[in-house]
Amino acid sequence: MCGIIGFSGREQAAPILLDGLARMEYRGYDSAGIAVRAETCGLQVKKTKGRLQVLSTLTHGGADLEGTLGIGHTRWATHGEPNDINAHPHVSENGQIALVHNGIIENYLEIKEHLQKQGVTFTSDTDSEVVAQLLEFHYNECGSMLEAVGRVLRRIEGSYAFGIICSDYPNALIAARKDSPLILGYGENGNFIASDVTAVIKYTRDVAYMDDGEIAVVTPETIDVFDSELMPREKEHHQIDWDVSAAEKGGYAHFMFKEIMEQPEAIRKTVSPRIREGRVVLDDISLTAEYVKGISRIFVIACGSSYHVGMVSKYNWEHLLRRPVEVCLASEFRYSDPLVDESTLVLVISQSGETLDTMAAMREARRRGGRTLAIVNVVGSSIAREADDVLYTWAGPEIAVATTKAYSTQLVLMDLVGLYLADLLGTVSREEYDAVLAEMQALPEKMQRVLENFEDVQYFASRYFNHNSIFFIGRNLDYAMGLEGSLKLKEISYIHSEAYASGELKHGTISLIEPGTLVVALGTFAPLFDKAMSNVVEVKARGAEVLAVTTEMFREKMEKTANSTVVIPDTHPVLQPSLGVVPLQLFAYYVALQRGCDIDKPRNLAKSVTVE
Ligand code: AGP
Repeated sequence: MCGIIGFSGREQAAPILLDGLARMEYRGYDSAGIAVRAETCGLQVKKTKGRLQVLSTLTHGGADLEGTLGIGHTRWATHGEPNDINAHPHVSENGQIALVHNGIIENYLEIKEHLQKQGVTFTSDTDSEVVAQLLEFHYNECGSMLEAVGRVLRRIEGSYAFGIICSDYPNALIAARKDSPLILGYGENGNFIASDVTAVIKYTRDVAYMDDGEIAVVTPETIDVFDSELMPREKEHHQIDWDVSAAEKGGYAHFMFKEIMEQPEAIRKTVSPRIREGRVVLDDISLTAEYVKGISRIFVIACGSSYHVGMVSKYNWEHLLRRPVEVCLASEFRYSDPLVDESTLVLVISQSGETLDTMAAMREARRRGGRTLAIVNVVGSSIAREADDVLYTWAGPEIAVATTKAYSTQLVLMDLVGLYLADLLGTVSREEYDAVLAEMQALPEKMQRVLENFEDVQYFASRYFNHNSIFFIGRNLDYAMGLEGSLKLKEISYIHSEAYASGELKHGTISLIEPGTLVVALGTFAPLFDKAMSNVVEVKARGAEVLAVTTEMFREKMEKTANSTVVIPDTHPVLQPSLGVVPLQLFAYYVALQRGCDIDKPRNLAKSVTVE
C-alpha cells in the first residue's frame, strides 16, 4: 500500500525522499511523487504514473529540486485510476499546501461537495485531494497550519497517515495518523516521517511510533507531538537493531529467493531463545495457567498467508490442546457477530502488524472481552502495540510481497505456543512434547537440506510453467499447506490454481481434471498417506499429470505413481508443513521466473494492506 516519507533537515531533500521511496517500493505501488519547498521558488511538485525510476529520471535523481523540506509518496490506487493527476502529492487550489496520504477518507464525497459549493475546483478523482483543499480552507480561516490540521482531523472519517508541507512554513512538515502506519525518525542532519523504518534506516535507527490521533510537527532540530486536542505528548524512542543489509538483495536476483534461503536462520532465531532445558519458555507473554485452563474456545484471525498459518495451526492445536480452534479471515470476522467472551483466546497473526482488516478484527475481539495474543514480525507495529500480548517472529525485514520466511516463522511460533499451552493444560504426553521439541530444533538443518535440492524444483518448474490451471491436493496438514502453495503460485505467477482437500475432489472438482491437468499432490502427512495416495491414483486415472511432494518414508510408493516427485526429510507430523511448504515456495518462484513475472512486486498487490 502507499508509502510515505517526509524530511525536514539540513540536506537537499529530494534525493533523500527518492531513496526512501525506493526502499518502500516493496510495499506495492502504481505511481510516485514528491513535493519540496525551496526558498527561491516555493513548492515544487513532481509526480508520475509508473515506476519510481521514471520519477527519478524526471528529476535527475532529485538533483533538480532545491530545498531541504519535502514529502514523498508511492501510491497504490484506491480512488481514481493510476495516472499522473491522481498521483500524490496533492496540492491545494492556491498552490500553498501539499499533502501525501495513505488510507481512505470515507466521507470525502460529502466534504468535496461542500467545498465545491464554496467554489473550490478539484483536479483529481482522489479522496486525498479533498483533504488538501479542506486544509487550505481551514488554514485561510485560522492562519495556523497546526490548528488547521486539527480542524481537518475532526471533520474527516476513515484511515490516514498524512505528510503535509506549506509554503508559509520553510522548515516544518506536519504529520498525522489514524489506522495507517507512520513512524518518526530522529536523524543527525534532519528528522523524518515514514510509513516504515526501512525508508529511514540508512539515516537513523532512532525512531518513535505515532499513535492514532497524534499530530507531529517535524523540523530539522525537533519533533513535537500533540494529541487530537493539540496538547503536547512525550514519545518513547526505540532503537532499530537490524542491519541495512537485511533489507537489501545482497547478491540474490530477487528478495523472494533471498528470503526463501534465509528461512533456516529465521526459524533458528525464532525458536532457539524460546527453548530452555527442554521446555518451551515464553517469558514475553502473561497468560497464567489459571487463565489457560479456563479457555473455552480459540480463534485465529488473519489474512492471506497468515490465515494459512492459522489453517495449519487448527489441525495442530486441536490435536495438542483438545480445544476447539476456529480460523477466521479477519475481513469476515470483524462483521460476523463473532461468539467471543472472556474465556476466548484470540490469536492474531500478521507479518506487517499493520493489516487493517486484522487490526479491526482484533479490536472487535477485544471489545467483546476476548484476550488477544498477536504473532507479529514488525516490531512496534500497530497490532503488536494494541494486542494484550505479543510474540515476535524474528524473521527480519521481509521485502518480497509474497511472504516466505514470515510464513515459516509464524508456523513454528504457533507450534511452540501450541505446545506451551498444551503443556499447561496437560493435554500433551511427555513423549510427544519432547519429540516435537527435538524435531523443532532439528528443523533448520532439515530445511537447509530441502533448500540444497532447489535445482530439482527448478527443473520441475521448467517442465510445468506453461500450465494455466493447477490443483494442489492433500489431506489434513497437507491440505492446509496446499492452500499456501496455491496462493504463492497465484500471486507471483498469475496462474490460476486451487487447493483442495483430496477427499473432497470427488464431490465436484474432479470434473475439472482432464488429460494433462497438473495436480500438485501433497503426501507428507504420514497418518493419512495411504488415503492421500488413493486420491492421487484417482486423478492419474483421469489423465492428470502429477507432481508430488512426499517424505523419505514414502518416496518409493509415491515415485511409482506420480510423474515427478520432490522428496523432503521426515519429521514429526506437527512440523511436516514447515518442510513441505519450501518446495512449494520454490516452485512458485521458478514458475514465475520462467514466465517472466515481476516476482518481488506482483501486479495489483501490496505488501502491507492498510486499507479495508
Ligand atoms: C502473502 O504472500 C501475501 N502477501 C498476503 O496474503 C499476506 O500474507 C496478507 O496480506 C497478510 O499480511 P500480514 O501478515 O502482514 O497481515
